[in-house]
Amino acid sequence: MNDTLTVRLGERSYPIHFGADLTARVREAVAQLAREGRRVAVLTDRNVAARQAAALKAMFGGAPMLVTGAGESVKSFAELERVLDFLAENRLDRAGVLVAAGGGVIGDLGGFAASSWLRGIDFWQVPTTLLAMVDSSVGGKTGVNLKAGKNLAGAFHQPRAVFIATGLLATLPPREFAAGMAEVIKYGLLGDAALFAQLEREPLTVTSPALPAVVRRCCEIKAAVVEADERELAREGGRALLNLGHTFGHAIEQAAGYGEYLHGEAVAVGLAAAARLSARLGLPAAGTCAAASADAAAAAAGSSAGDACGTDAAGAAAAGADVVARVERVLAAHGLPARLRAALPLEALMAAMARDKKVRAGAPRFVVLSSPGASSTRADIALPLVESTWRELGAE
Ligand code: NAD
Ligand code: GLY
Repeated sequence: MNDTLTVRLGERSYPIHFGADLTARVREAVAQLAREGRRVAVLTDRNVAARQAAALKAMFGGAPMLVTGAGESVKSFAELERVLDFLAENRLDRAGVLVAAGGGVIGDLGGFAASSWLRGIDFWQVPTTLLAMVDSSVGGKTGVNLKAGKNLAGAFHQPRAVFIATGLLATLPPREFAAGMAEVIKYGLLGDAALFAQLEREPLTVTSPALPAVVRRCCEIKAAVVEADERELAREGGRALLNLGHTFGHAIEQAAGYGEYLHGEAVAVGLAAAARLSARLGLPAAGTCAAASADAAAAAAGSSAGDACGTDAAGAAAAGADVVARVERVLAAHGLPARLRAALPLEALMAAMARDKKVRAGAPRFVVLSSPGASSTRADIALPLVESTWRELGAE
């Protein structure tokens, strides 16, 4: 499969190229920049540099390359300064292009560097993890972490092109593949019941024939959501729906210490948490399924309504428990946690949530589920319900 999807954002529109191997396409695009007299620099991390050395060489030839350490700790101001110094040393001018070739860490760091170097230069994403292919390489959120919280400093800066070569996943460690599956499961839950059902029927692996189509489907959903609400300004639904599981997940990453949980693992626990919180709220409540489905559909083109809507309180409780069980089964089938691995302090988790970027007027916003494929945002959730949910997951 060799094809292209366009993210339509007016003058910031860009193509996402898909294929098993895009070496020739990237090499040609780099050669075109050279013909235009534009400088290229590449950012990657040490694992990608080691495991994908031949691919990087074939794509970028002798272009200057900065190799960082690996993992979440690289998303820091210290590393940002290193990247900016690297761009200075290699004299990238305003026509220059920075290529982020790596996972979400490299994409977020590289994108932020590109957004601030000379007040903004072009950048490309060449994602090498499943998580980056289905989520972080698309949509233009860039940034680094602060002690005060995850991704708190950053910029919206859309890439100029994304090259998704699924063959690069061959060297990805299984734990990292599983972490990426948390975001894939998220897409099914937030707006595509058919995708979720497919994952229930047949768990996805790196060798699944279905993988390229699933990666493309996730990008289609993300592109539609970003096109509708690029800067996450919608009062309800919109881009915030992509944060399903993330309000809990980011709090876990912070309270446990960055790197203790992979981002995708924390999101997995967050998805289970969102399902549990939704059940505590009585979702799906009689008559609310249609509204929630419409919300998701408006934000994510092609989403489908879920299939577990309750018609009375008892029916809703059973349906809520059923959604929790289904979410936990799919997570387990993909090697992902649904509870905290070790107890974390409730106070630290709640404090981290209070600093979440989605907090508005002091109230955290949560993405809740009516059923797999039907989600909506809520800002009116009583904190004791959230605390009870944390306790169910193993917080104390
Ligand atoms: P990552 O970038 O740390 O990559 C995971 C690990 O895999 C690293 O050790 C890396 O060196 C290694 N690796 C990458 N590609 C490889 C390959 N092909 N072969 C062998 N090893 C390889 O982590 P990630 O899971 O890709 O991304 C997580 C980050 O993405 C988090 O910081 C998260 O906040 C961010 N994120 C951003 C967005 C966004 O919209 N910007 C969305 C979701 C997540
Ligand atoms: N991953 C969340 C977003 O891109 O909005």
